[in-house]
Amino acid sequence: MSQPQAAVGAAVPRVDARLRVTGQAKYAADNSPDGVVHAVIVDSSVGRGRVTGIDARAAEAQAGVVKVISHLNAPKLPHREPGFPPGEALRPFQDDRVRFFGQPVAVVVATTLETAQHAASLVKVSYDARPPSTDLGAADPADDPETYARGDADRALESADVTLDLAYRMARNHHNPMEPAGTVARWDGDRLTLWEKTQHVQGTVETMAAEFGMSPDKIRVISPAVGGAFGSGGRTWVHTSIAALAAREVKRPVKLVLTRRQTYFGVGYRPAYEYDLRLGSDRRGRLTASVHDVRTESSRYERHSEDVLAAGRMLYSTPHVRQVYGHVPLDVNTPTWMRGPGYSSGAFCVETAMDELAHELGLDPIELRLRNEPSDDESSGLPFSTRRLRDCYRAGAREFGWHRRNPEPRSTRDGDWLIGMGMAAGVYDTARSEAQASVRLDADGTALVQSATSDMGPGTATSMTQVAADALGLTMRQITFRLGDSDLPLAPGHHGSRTMASVGSAVQDGCDKLRRQAITLAVQDEDSPLHSVDPADVAVRGGRLFVKDDPTRGETYRRLLARNDRSHLEALGSYAGAPESERFSFYAYAATFAEVAVDARLGLVRVRRMVGVYDAARIINPRLADSQAIGAMTGGIGQALLEHTVTDHRDGRIVNANLADYLVPTHADMPEMKAIYIEGEDFEADPIGVKGLGEIVIVGVAPAIANAVFNATGRRIRHLPITAEALL
Ligand code: MOS
Repeated sequence: MSQPQAAVGAAVPRVDARLRVTGQAKYAADNSPDGVVHAVIVDSSVGRGRVTGIDARAAEAQAGVVKVISHLNAPKLPHREPGFPPGEALRPFQDDRVRFFGQPVAVVVATTLETAQHAASLVKVSYDARPPSTDLGAADPADDPETYARGDADRALESADVTLDLAYRMARNHHNPMEPAGTVARWDGDRLTLWEKTQHVQGTVETMAAEFGMSPDKIRVISPAVGGAFGSGGRTWVHTSIAALAAREVKRPVKLVLTRRQTYFGVGYRPAYEYDLRLGSDRRGRLTASVHDVRTESSRYERHSEDVLAAGRMLYSTPHVRQVYGHVPLDVNTPTWMRGPGYSSGAFCVETAMDELAHELGLDPIELRLRNEPSDDESSGLPFSTRRLRDCYRAGAREFGWHRRNPEPRSTRDGDWLIGMGMAAGVYDTARSEAQASVRLDADGTALVQSATSDMGPGTATSMTQVAADALGLTMRQITFRLGDSDLPLAPGHHGSRTMASVGSAVQDGCDKLRRQAITLAVQDEDSPLHSVDPADVAVRGGRLFVKDDPTRGETYRRLLARNDRSHLEALGSYAGAPESERFSFYAYAATFAEVAVDARLGLVRVRRMVGVYDAARIINPRLADSQAIGAMTGGIGQALLEHTVTDHRDGRIVNANLADYLVPTHADMPEMKAIYIEGEDFEADPIGVKGLGEIVIVGVAPAIANAVFNATGRRIRHLPITAEALL
């Protein structure tokens, strides 16, 4: 680092903390442009079939109702090329087909929200309904599974000393962020502005351009604040198209917010899984083979994929591996990424299986994992850029007090409670994407840094300000970071733990460029105290440029700009993203430890404490990192013990589509949690040396809890969530 690093690494509070806690942060639905009207979706009450009639007369008769739009009167939209995910995107009111329960079939636009809600309840929809297929376990996968193989796993299993044959089942989960999805759409002639809840403003522009056959530069998407998303805002859903379509039809701005119930049908979910796993090892616990046969749900019209099999390919040294990943098309809305997508589901299976193997062999679970540490990534043949998983085990075991664990299940009691300890490893890939950031230093010595990224919660504006502060040599207060506007410089979707690496590297590049510009200006300026100094010998701190070996010699940005008659300096930073062909295998790692108490008579599980240890390389802000880790441990408790989207397979209805019946952890469920970060940078990954943190922190939480439940009770539960009734 050519600059002193004062802000990066500091546990500073969020730059927008006051804005957020005083209710001044503006979320999508907080925007009410002049003349705004309200839209409420009428959604399908059958799970498959056709709409045979829509009687909107009673709704239209209500004072204040502007229009009821359905496939009967919606304009035909231009042809849309298949995009991402692969398939045919769900489009607003383009045909009479019902693809899943809860699909929008009409929208009511009215002058007040209450009128729209009431009128929506008066719309009578008739259907030609068919029985939907929504049960993953009762349907067949499509006949083009994704497969992977190395060696001959089936033969190796036959000759293995020890084999395990395990069937895992994982429930569907919903994101349930505080802020429901919502959009405010306004047309100005042929230009469209959306105030949208999204993790990807520029992705929303692309989707809307495809949907309406428009040039992307006529669309602007604004989303400066996001009230949690966990992946649900990673792509654009049909309600956004409906808002834009309705606004165009009624020629007024339209506000459309999904109800909590509608978010269960409208913005994706973590798909249900069936994961059959066979493991083979020798007597010393060296894995010889594994076979992973996975089936997961997707919609009939799109195919969602996620990397559920990565852990099984590369986490442990295994000469023979065979994997099958089958998609089961169902009459459901398309699933999507939900925190630690794929990896957290895969880790539940692989990491509880490792615990079973350790138990079978009488080995300590950490010792078993150490015996299977690979020397390089056996799925790609590449060396690891950094892999500090051993350090994670060591630090976690020490902090957690792993040596106090009695390996004998059901051997530790505290009154009526059975006590158990468990641990699990985690892995998540280090994604990096192309990004840009503009930097402007004004004559008053303050700077504005901008990029079209988002902040759904991790504190993006804060961590970016830290990177900019060090690279520019300013204090954080002298910098404003703007995000959440598609007109700003290029940024990837704010998901997959790529934001810090991608946007952070672009911010650093832009600030480095700008600082060098200022230094060049100074050393070439005969009136500057820095005149003719070697630029490499100049640093900036607190807005003052100075000679590193003689800090008394220097001047401020303000003086330099004023004397040179410059109103500002500006630069555009960029980061190219991951290269086409990688030289290393890039992953973040975790070791999560959990202690549980299980009520011996009621089966109730309480998590008593958790320790998570992470190799995410450089940590930009430990306070923000802790909020990621503690949030993810909480989400992992939900995944392990509570969260379960329940579908009535008779009609495809989600029966617990509300926060009273869909259980998420509350504060009372949250134990003492501690996060530890293994120090170190990874400059092979990206110029700021980070590996991403937001996803790895949840990967391994559910199996750590499941393994602790086994240690407490002797009961091996291979399905999620682990409910009280499963333990009775
Ligand atoms: Mo994260 S599930 O990629 O928003």
